[in-house]
Amino acid sequence: MTRKKDPLRSTEWFGGHEKGAFIHRSWMKNQGFPPHLFDGRPVIGICNSWSELTPCNGQLRDLAEHVRRGIFEAGGFPVEFPVMSLGESNMRPTAMMFRNLAAIEVEESIRANPIDGVVLLAGCDKTTPALLMGAASCNLPALLVSAGPMLSGSFNGEVLGSGTDVWRLSEEMRAGTISPEQFSAAEAAMSRSPGTCNTMGTASTMACLSEAMGITLPGNAAIPSVDARRRVLAFMSGRRIVEMVHQDLCMSRILTREAFQNAICANAAIGGSTNAVIHLQALAGRVEVPFLLDDWNRIGRNIPTIVDLMPSGRFLMEDFFNAGGMQAVLRRLLDAGRLHGDCLTVNGRTIAENNGAIRVLNDEVIRPMSNPLTEDGGIVVLRGNLAPNGAIMKPSAATASLMTHRGAAVVFEDIDDYHARIDDPDLEVDEASVLVLKNCGPRGYPGMPEVGNMGLPRKLLQKGVTDMVRISDARMSGTAYGTVILHVSPEAAIGGPLALVENGDMISVDASANSIVLEVPDEELARRKANWMPPVPPASGFERMFSDQILQADEGCDFELLKGRRGAAVARDYV
Ligand code: FES
Ligand code: MG
Repeated sequence: MTRKKDPLRSTEWFGGHEKGAFIHRSWMKNQGFPPHLFDGRPVIGICNSWSELTPCNGQLRDLAEHVRRGIFEAGGFPVEFPVMSLGESNMRPTAMMFRNLAAIEVEESIRANPIDGVVLLAGCDKTTPALLMGAASCNLPALLVSAGPMLSGSFNGEVLGSGTDVWRLSEEMRAGTISPEQFSAAEAAMSRSPGTCNTMGTASTMACLSEAMGITLPGNAAIPSVDARRRVLAFMSGRRIVEMVHQDLCMSRILTREAFQNAICANAAIGGSTNAVIHLQALAGRVEVPFLLDDWNRIGRNIPTIVDLMPSGRFLMEDFFNAGGMQAVLRRLLDAGRLHGDCLTVNGRTIAENNGAIRVLNDEVIRPMSNPLTEDGGIVVLRGNLAPNGAIMKPSAATASLMTHRGAAVVFEDIDDYHARIDDPDLEVDEASVLVLKNCGPRGYPGMPEVGNMGLPRKLLQKGVTDMVRISDARMSGTAYGTVILHVSPEAAIGGPLALVENGDMISVDASANSIVLEVPDEELARRKANWMPPVPPASGFERMFSDQILQADEGCDFELLKGRRGAAVARDYV
């Protein structure tokens, strides 16, 4: 194969007879690499976010081995390196606090080392965007291999979906319909194999959108983590990245504005996580693609949710895989004329060439466009005096009758205040109230936790109330549901109007008009603003850096100084 790029970047380290080349090669040889591997062949990084503290990524050690085999077979030189892993289920205060930190590590690890191309191994929610963002700023050839979803859970003859059924079961326990013993017995049944959440949570969403953007091989999103076919995909990804280096197929040629538009449409079709809004915004910032929050309204409008997976629907990722997976969804969208079919993907073919002839194998799991789960599945962006820079909601997870609603605010100043008072029998609240939670935004919490789908007051749950309008500057787990308005920007902690809401204020929401209005006169809001005190910033450490740098949700919560494509050039060597 003729190379578009010769010599390769790694030759600057490993080529020639200078002292520096001696040092770079000699130390690598202490691992048993034979001399011919330094002959100028592509050096491929395997960027692995495996960690035992990130259970969802547990399979990546095994998959790395299969990527390595593929790289060797294609004549490349594989070098695996670890990066900070982000386990959604363990990390405090929230894994989101560290997405940008991991992205820094990915970017700098790639740039600083003799790497020509990279295979990104990620799975759990924040690991996928972190690895994509970091690699995108370097803009070398790269592709993603996902950890893949867990097998379906089952308990007492009932299907259990990751996350989604935790919310349901915990509400049932609080309402007294199941015992604490039953509740804890469901734990092992829910997570019965390695892999990411088996619902259409953030991990599955990001895997699906990565496939829709063409930054993975076809089929990557849905193959179960433990299925042998995922090993095959890993092997083939290893083979392919070597060719991508020869072809100089950099990330920016894949992650175009049209690819992001395809991701918006795909997100609507799968009923994807609200977190995708933040992650795609941040990724677009890295590749310098113009991409606005309102693009979600414009481009995703009238795209139905056709994938019947929890939390919006009934099935799980294993069912999705058996129904044809993301390729089948892309086929449906292509047939409906909703995708840019000519977008290039990492295998060198277009989205249309890869997916245009795929068969949908189960019309219940991946429904026809004419019989969707939700007619308009896109993310709705709301604006108004309560959210001048926007807020979002996910119609497929909401109650239709609450999408237009007017009610009195019941305000919680922060998450501690919420926990202290939500089950107070004297809390003045009814099902028409609007629950407002402040100070859970990117800077306020800090890290913007997934608490926006705050549980309902116990006394209303016991009356049988199942949903209420909830508004916050927080995020929501991709596995959660409800009429929940999230990502209010600017957040309360920087003095956004959300900070000024008081108990009893009337709030009206109209999803069809994209509006969210705090019915308080401007003069009164100005009076309240004059009395508002900003929180004291953290004194030092990463938390201080985070607080100084973090952008608001509508800009993807990246760090201001990390936006952009810096490339992979390094000016100096130490030898
Ligand atoms: Fe890791 Fe859901 S908690 S994928
Ligand atoms: Mg999640």
